Amino acid sequence: MALLELNNVTVSFPFTNGQPSLQALEGLSLSVERGELVALVGPSGCGKTTALNVLAGQVRPTQGQVRLAGEPVEGLLPSVGYISQADTLLPWRTVLDNVALAMELRGVPKAQRRETARALMEEMGLGGFEHSYPRELSGGMKKRAAIARVLAIDPAILMMDEPFAPLDALTRQRLQDEILSAWETTGCTILYVTHDLTEAITLADRVLLMSARPGRVVREYPIDLPRPRRVMDVKFTPHFVELEQTIWRDLETQLKEAERR
Ligand SMILES: Nc1ncnc2c1ncn2[C@@H]1O[C@H](COP(=O)(O)OP(=O)(O)OP(=O)(O)O)[C@@H](O)[C@H]1O
Ligand SMILES: [Mg+2]
Repeated sequence: MALLELNNVTVSFPFTNGQPSLQALEGLSLSVERGELVALVGPSGCGKTTALNVLAGQVRPTQGQVRLAGEPVEGLLPSVGYISQADTLLPWRTVLDNVALAMELRGVPKAQRRETARALMEEMGLGGFEHSYPRELSGGMKKRAAIARVLAIDPAILMMDEPFAPLDALTRQRLQDEILSAWETTGCTILYVTHDLTEAITLADRVLLMSARPGRVVREYPIDLPRPRRVMDVKFTPHFVELEQTIWRDLETQLKEAERR
């Protein structure tokens, strides 16, 4: 049985300024198995973030259902860590206290959360910035701190929305490897949104392609590259290139469709 499921989900956002309502998703179904790493790709505006927001209980579907281990759920899922696209740090807290925030909300004692936060900051290349404020960090550093904040609670299900978008290529690759090894050791379940097809193939067991808006999953591609994977070991193999070409052709069709609308 799938751990996480969206069944035939439709989302319409209500009128604004007399415009007709906007249909973001239509009949979207997807499922993620326990321990699986699934990447969701699709044109900008096709509803990827909306799909994650539905799963996180932040957007109510107009139709359809969210299921966790087969049971219908409404509202917030307790076991989910969500690194949203718009994730921000609280400007009045130090970076360390920002990283410790999710643990604080879960009642982790102060000494323990500080220790975990420090260790994670070190791992994410943020050592030495514990007492800085978010305004003193670069965009990529803020993103890394937001990722550390969620990893700190060791979630059973991790949802990430373009987490590495603002990062430079090197940092991006390092963090991709870190996500891979964290996932391999913890056995958590990951649903990952990215506009970067190379990244999707590098990380995922399965890539799901969404249509132009209103979004639904049009195709899925099993990624049978060997595990454990390291980015540089797989990225230039002939099989990788073959997968990338196949998915890219279909993605391009959806991108053109999105432009036409
Ligand atoms: N709260 C909202 N109210 C009204 N419309 C919304 C809302 N959230 C999203 N939309 C609309 O729904 C559509 C899908 O948006 P969404 O953010 O899910 O796209 P996306 O696939 O994540 O795009 P991107 O790749 O650019 O992040 C867009 O047309 C957007 O304008
Ligand atoms: Mg988005």
